[in-house]
Amino acid sequence: MSLSHIARSIGESATLKLNALFAELKGRGEPVIHLGGGEPKSKCPQSAIDEATKLLTTGEVRYAPASGLKPLKEAVVRYTEQFYGTIAEPKNVIISGGAKQAIMVCLQAILDPGDEVVFPVPYWVSYPEMVTLCGAKPIPVRAKDGGLRPAISEIESAITKKTKAILINSPNNPSGVMYSEEFIAGVVELCESRDLYLLMDDIYHRLIFDDRKPISCYQFSKVALNDSKLVVINGVSKQYAMTGFRIGWAVGNPDLIKAMGNIQGHQTSGTSPVMQQSVRAALDGDQHCVGELCRSLESNRNLIIGLLGEIDGVKLSRPDGTFYCFADFSAFDTDSTALSSFLLKKALVVTVPGVEFGMDGYLRISTCGSPEDIREGIRRMRWALDDDGPGSLQVGNKTLLRDWK
Ligand SMILES: Cc1ncc(COP(=O)(O)O)c(C=O)c1O
Repeated sequence: MSLSHIARSIGESATLKLNALFAELKGRGEPVIHLGGGEPKSKCPQSAIDEATKLLTTGEVRYAPASGLKPLKEAVVRYTEQFYGTIAEPKNVIISGGAKQAIMVCLQAILDPGDEVVFPVPYWVSYPEMVTLCGAKPIPVRAKDGGLRPAISEIESAITKKTKAILINSPNNPSGVMYSEEFIAGVVELCESRDLYLLMDDIYHRLIFDDRKPISCYQFSKVALNDSKLVVINGVSKQYAMTGFRIGWAVGNPDLIKAMGNIQGHQTSGTSPVMQQSVRAALDGDQHCVGELCRSLESNRNLIIGLLGEIDGVKLSRPDGTFYCFADFSAFDTDSTALSSFLLKKALVVTVPGVEFGMDGYLRISTCGSPEDIREGIRRMRWALDDDGPGSLQVGNKTLLRDWK
């Protein structure tokens, strides 16, 4: 079969593939535990459900404008003022099919083939592929000290004449690291002094722990929003547990937003008006759900830190936010894909290999599951990783056997 060069250069999303594998095993009745997930188990806000139901029962669900409905753009304007202290207007906002599409159409609007996009390692699995889809080149930047936070000087060293944009995700998927104010200030200054786009993927910005406060990149910008190359991406998937609603947005200068809208108009048209109106209701409604989700994630993070701390050889630096703990398992296997498959096969636990995020030897473990699943999943991992452990482990009706050397 003949496929395009682009199609041949893009791999399947590792995380979506693992979700499918999990569903298949679960469907076969296997007592598998998913510690790799990137979506909360909590219910979405009631205000969103009520609004969606109301609109659906009218039976009149039509096309929405390509760049989004005005009431939702206005809600994003209020959100931007509340959480970023910046006054935007609807012309600064595009509503997309998730933060994923907002990032994608933004990249399509700014990149030409051969351009480069710089981002820190570890990175969200989709960044390299999204950049590649635009015919451009991903430039991941690894911290020289081997840690999870490249220095601003390391980001700067990766910039060439071909660099078009820097892409920052803070707090970060997979590491949970929230970059410091100095780092964000540095990257804003770097982009403004070099005339580069800066995409801030803030999808987890309210899901932070230990009494941290979200950082607004705008406070470091010297350029007015309407002339700025700073683009803030956000959405409801994570903070409101609304992954299936597929709504995200970008805030940026009106020319860029217009270009993104044109691309989106030919790609998918506007996202469903039912989903847009229900997201507006969530943004304007009771916000307790965000705090509650955050507290449960923080408590699960603490649980995971404690449990992984009991496995000799695992190194984990304390995540500041997100749904993830990114732990160094290289003492057991430097090949994270092999280790993750081993744990799935022998202990029936799903983890995500660090290599998918640019750091082999690591595994991403999710804080989204129930404390019971986390305890049980890590109990099984501990058993499988301990060469001197018992020859079998009882898991419900099933007996896991130590049938490997
Ligand atoms: C860092 C990051 N950015 C963007 C997204 C996409 O979010 P959405 O569901 O809004 O498309 C995700 C989802 O996993 C993510 O982890």
